[in-house]
Amino acid sequence: MTTHTVTIANRGDAQFTVDAKRPLLDSLRAQGVDLPYGCKYGGCITCAAKLTAGTVDQRRQVALNNRQLDRGYVILCVARATSDITLEIGVESHDQLYRNPFIDPLLPHELKADIAAPKDPSNA
Ligand code: FES
Repeated sequence: MTTHTVTIANRGDAQFTVDAKRPLLDSLRAQGVDLPYGCKYGGCITCAAKLTAGTVDQRRQVALNNRQLDRGYVILCVARATSDITLEIGVESHDQLYRNPFIDPLLPHELKADIAAPKDPSNA
């Protein structure tokens, strides 16, 4: 079994060992970490956390747009660690998750990946 270490920066740098094949939400909750969740299939965004170091595989998520991905957000119910990682969890990690669309609308390249326009059309 391949494992990685998860450090939770906003919980006193608490560390947990997780199975690389198991969703982070399941692995961390099984070890007593209190994490919010809803749908558990990557669609509702409730379980979002901020990745500040390392890499994850979250190809199954459909909740995040490109702006949120660029800010480091990961969907814990489908994301698997692909290296040792550092996370910020809980609602305090959601400071950059939402943005008022009337004051600051998303740019074309910041939309969800399936509808986003390339950032620089000359590189398309
Ligand atoms: S619980 Fe709904 S996206 Fe993770």
